[in-house]
Amino acid sequence: MPAGATDRFDLVATAMVDLVKFAGRFLREPSRVGAIAPSSGALGRVITSWARLEEADAVVEYGPGTGAFTPYILERLRPGATFFALEVDRALYEAFRRRFPEVPVYRDSVAKVATYLDAHGIASADCIISGLPWASFSAAYQAELMRSTVDVLASGGRFATFAYVHALAMSSAHAFRRLLNRRFSDVGMSPVVWWNLPPAFVYQCVK
Ligand SMILES: C[S@@+](CC[C@H](N)C(=O)[O-])C[C@H]1O[C@@H](n2cnc3c(N)ncnc32)[C@H](O)[C@@H]1O
Repeated sequence: MPAGATDRFDLVATAMVDLVKFAGRFLREPSRVGAIAPSSGALGRVITSWARLEEADAVVEYGPGTGAFTPYILERLRPGATFFALEVDRALYEAFRRRFPEVPVYRDSVAKVATYLDAHGIASADCIISGLPWASFSAAYQAELMRSTVDVLASGGRFATFAYVHALAMSSAHAFRRLLNRRFSDVGMSPVVWWNLPPAFVYQCVK
């Protein structure tokens, strides 16, 4: 096979393996995994392009799953910046570690983000890119995880997370939007990314 064709084959094969693994985890833990398929590259570009990763000293990725956003974070990260991820699901954590051996990832909840920043010798994060399914969580759990997040975010720090368009009518999605409004000084929304299954947009929040 010519070299370009081999690369394309590898890409498609990786995407298929990710899809099967992800869907399997969703069927077992629907509210924690929160999506049937990994996010698209289009959503990865939108969620990372607003975050000013090029200027950040410390970046954390929440719930990377199989790593749909990670290549776009790595692409923008400046040399010397600290970057790590927190993934609670064992199978997805292992898949992530195999795909990105160079990225520190911890199998733990983002509720413990302060502990891991501490372990890296860092007091606060400049940017958090979140893949968590916030609208699947209860209001109390949303509030708990958001408290840990805002506590570690630097003043002026950026928090980006995505939400599905079809889920906007859910009461948990309303609760999440109200929580963002309470906890951040500025909350914006990206245009809808239609090239994602299902279509989604990004909440762009500044502390
Ligand atoms: C909707 S999936 C998104 C995965 C990936 N970011 C993407 O966009 O394809 C949500 C991910 O968050 C992880 N997750 C859920 N709750 C978490 C928590 N409290 N701490 C860390 N990861 C969590 C799930 O295991 C899953 O990998």
